[in-house]
Amino acid sequence: MSNKAKFSSKLGLVAATVGSAVGLGNIWRFPAEVQSNGGAAFLLVYILCVLVLGIPLMLAEFSLGRGTQADAVGAFKVLSPKSKWWLTGALGVLASYMILSFYTVVAGWTLDYLWQSITGDLYASSNGSGGATSAMNLYFHHKMEQYVCTTWPPLINTFIIIGICIAVLMAGVQKGIERMSTWLMPLLFVILVVFCCEALSFDKAGEGLSYFFTPDFSKITPSVIVNALGQAFFSLSLGMGCLITYGSYFPRSTKLMKTAVTVSMLDMLVAVMMGVIIFPAVFSFGLSDAELRGTTLVFVTLPEVFSMMPATGLWSVLFFTLLLVAALTSAISIGEVSIAFVQDRFGKSRRMATLIVTLPLFALSTLCSLSFGVLSDFKIAGLTIFNLLDTVTSNYMLPTGALLICIFTGWFAPKGFFRKELTPSLGRDRRIYWAVEFIVRWIAPVLILIVLLSSII
Ligand code: PFF
Repeated sequence: MSNKAKFSSKLGLVAATVGSAVGLGNIWRFPAEVQSNGGAAFLLVYILCVLVLGIPLMLAEFSLGRGTQADAVGAFKVLSPKSKWWLTGALGVLASYMILSFYTVVAGWTLDYLWQSITGDLYASSNGSGGATSAMNLYFHHKMEQYVCTTWPPLINTFIIIGICIAVLMAGVQKGIERMSTWLMPLLFVILVVFCCEALSFDKAGEGLSYFFTPDFSKITPSVIVNALGQAFFSLSLGMGCLITYGSYFPRSTKLMKTAVTVSMLDMLVAVMMGVIIFPAVFSFGLSDAELRGTTLVFVTLPEVFSMMPATGLWSVLFFTLLLVAALTSAISIGEVSIAFVQDRFGKSRRMATLIVTLPLFALSTLCSLSFGVLSDFKIAGLTIFNLLDTVTSNYMLPTGALLICIFTGWFAPKGFFRKELTPSLGRDRRIYWAVEFIVRWIAPVLILIVLLSSII
C-alpha cells in the first residue's frame, strides 16, 4: 500500500480536512441549535465538547487512518484481522452513503438559490409583498415551498451537484480534493469576514452579540449537553470514518496533534462567526425564534434579511456562494469514504470506484428530493425519506460509530499503536498523551453512550 495517494502539502492537507469539517453543519445547523438550546449556554458546552472530546476523537480517527494507510473498513482489518471490528468501518461507509443522499439535495437547493440571486429572480417580486417583515417572510416561505415541492428543478440541481462531486473525486486526492479545497477554503473565510464586518454594523449588533456570548448557566440542561455533543461530532466530521480515510492520505511527517487542533479551531471559528453574523441580524431585523429553525434559516430568513439590506443581490450571491463552497467540500469528503472503501477493498481504479459509488446515488438522492414533492406522503415511522435518513444517521449512526471508534482505539487496537501515532506530535510531554488516552478510553465512551441512550429513550 506504499503507493497510496497522499496530500502534497501541509496547507492542502489542512484545507481539505477543514473543507470536510466546515459544511452545512456550521453554517445552517449551528445557529439554529444555539437558538433552540438557550443561546450562549449552548455555545459554551459546544466549545467544551469540541476541546475535550472532539479533538481526542479526531486524533483517534487520524491515527487509525495514518497508522494503517487504509480505508475506513481496512483500518480495522489491518489492526484486528480476525475480529468483527471492521463492521465499525462498514457502518461508517453505510452512514456516509445515506448522508450524501440528502446532503446533495440541500447543496442542490443552494445552487438554485445562488443562481436565482445572480439573476435577481429570488427577489423579483419581494417588493410587492409590501416590505413588512411578516409579508416578506410569507413571500420567501411560499417561494421555497414552491421550489422544493416541484419535481424537476430541485432534481436537476441535485444531479449537477453529484456531477461536480464525480468530477472532483475522479480527479483524485491531490488534483481533485486538495486542489479544490486549497482554492475554496480561503474564499470561504474571506466571505465570512466580510459578512461579520457588515453584521457588526447593524443597529442592534450589541444586543445580538450579548445574547450569543453571555451565558446563562441555568440553561445548561442534559438535553443541551446531548445536542451540543451531537453538533460537535457532526460538525467535526467524526464517527463515520471520514477522518480515518483522510488520515490515510497524511504523510508520516504530519503532526497529528497540531493538525487536529488547527482543524477543530478553524471549524469552531466558522461556527462562531456564523453566530456573530446571524444574531445581530436577528435582533436588528426583529426576526422571531421560529424563523431560525431548520431549512427556514437559510432559505427563508436570510433572503428576507438581504431584501431589507442595501445591495440585496450582492449579499445574497455572497452568502449562497459561501454555503455552496461549504456544502461541496463536505459532500466530497463524505463521498470519499465510500470511494476509498471500494478502491481499497475491491482493488478498483479510482474512476471505476467513483462510478460504482455515485451511480446508485442518483437514485437515492432522487428519492430524497422527491420526498418534499410527490413522495411527501410516503413515510416510514412517521418520517419522510429525507428526514428518516437525516435522523437515523445524525442521531444514531454517527454517535454509534464514534463510540465504537473510541472503544477500539482505546482498548482493542494493538498495544502502543495509538501512542506510537501520537508520540512524534507530542514531543516529550507525556501528560498530554495520558490525557488523550484517558478521554478516548473512558470519558468519551461513557458520554457518547449517555447521548445514544437519551436519544433512544
Ligand atoms: N462536517 C460536515 C458539516 O458540518 O456539514 C458534515 C459531515 C462531513 C459529517 C463528513 C460527517 C462527515 F464524515
